[in-house]
Amino acid sequence: SSAKFSLAAAALVVAAPALADDAALREQARELFETIPLAAPTLENNVISRDRVDLGAMLFFDPRMSRSGLFSCQSCHNIGLGGVDGLETSIGHGWQKGPRNAPTMLNAVFNIAQFWDGRAPDLAAQAKGPVQAGVEMNNTPDRVVATLESMPGYVEAFDAAFPGEENPITFDNFALAVEAFEATLITPNAKFDQFLMGNDGAMSDQEKRGLALFIDTGCVACHAGINVGGQGYYPFGVVEKPGADILPEGDKGRFAVTETADDDYVFRAAPLRNIALTAPYFHSGKVWDLKQAVAIMANSQLGAELSEEQIDDIVAFLGALTGEQPQVVHPTLPPRTMTTPLPEE
Ligand code: HEM
Ligand code: HEM
Repeated sequence: SSAKFSLAAAALVVAAPALADDAALREQARELFETIPLAAPTLENNVISRDRVDLGAMLFFDPRMSRSGLFSCQSCHNIGLGGVDGLETSIGHGWQKGPRNAPTMLNAVFNIAQFWDGRAPDLAAQAKGPVQAGVEMNNTPDRVVATLESMPGYVEAFDAAFPGEENPITFDNFALAVEAFEATLITPNAKFDQFLMGNDGAMSDQEKRGLALFIDTGCVACHAGINVGGQGYYPFGVVEKPGADILPEGDKGRFAVTETADDDYVFRAAPLRNIALTAPYFHSGKVWDLKQAVAIMANSQLGAELSEEQIDDIVAFLGALTGEQPQVVHPTLPPRTMTTPLPEE
């Protein structure tokens, strides 16, 4: 029985410091990050009513919002694929290749602004972009409105989503409905969130080592807050500019938004929630391996040379940022009528 006793004592000795470390790590992490809430946040200029969210889901999935009748938001932001298309850069109208990789819209409601360069202030402003972009859906606001007005199912859905409005089918209301739906596309309960909330066992030792490294190496200078990024703008290449194979020279990021030389090659620090699901990486989509993306970041942003093992640990931590994916039922879309504009090439 004395052997049993000393075994138990030994186990206590091993376990005690680990618990203290967990508490310290959690305390540090809580200063830097926030958990994803279980329900959609409230929005300043929008109402997330059930009817508006349902309408937004219809619009998100409806390829008739594009001129060709081929592309919906879902084409490039696949809800079953972490909200991305898995392509280097997106393919849109007429099989055109766009200039940038499609970022996920999951949790995008928490970003400071939308797009790699932050040029849209919120999701409603953002939603008007792809519909009109020549390389994406190549449509016009008037043609979208005509398409929606042609189908009684949409007339009813807009009436319900914008009660009391005399003329509810507008391009602005299209954007508000899409925004309301997107605000519900959040991914709570990642292992990391569970750890933040107090569950020591939610993350493995390797994931915890990765979290500690993510903090100590300095990644958190740019990737912090609720989305582990998405809150500020930084040059891609603070210490050393990656080669043109990763950072193509033609895309100067925020420079195109602000037209100040300081913003040459400045991009929004990418949000890292669900990052394990959203390869390929960077606005160029040139990097398929998350390990390589982490190594590039360490070199280009921090001038740090991480060991293979440290990179593995950070990648393990990033995997713990994968949350519960939204379970969305594909809506039934209103049938066309003889006044619905025909698909065009
Ligand atoms: C960016 C939503 C259609 C490709 C975004 C973002 C959102 C979004 C929220 C910004 C995410 C962020 O910055 O973190 C939508 C909605 C659509 C739609 C609601 C339908 C109305 C499409 C389509 C394509 C596409 C059809 C592909 C043909 C992209 C690309 C970006 C982007 C490439 C990044 C562009 C840049 O940063 O300049 N989208 N999207 N999107 N989306 Fe879409
Ligand atoms: C993008 C991780 C440090 C700013 C990314 C991406 C990853 C990542 C995985 C790609 C995201 C995606 O494609 O969706 C890390 C790690 C870091 C680190 C592990 C520490 C070793 C930093 C620092 C800064 C920064 C210190 C700011 C000085 C950015 C920016 C992007 C980005 C601006 C977007 C780049 C682009 O235009 O494609 N980071 N990061 N990162 N990170 Fe970091």
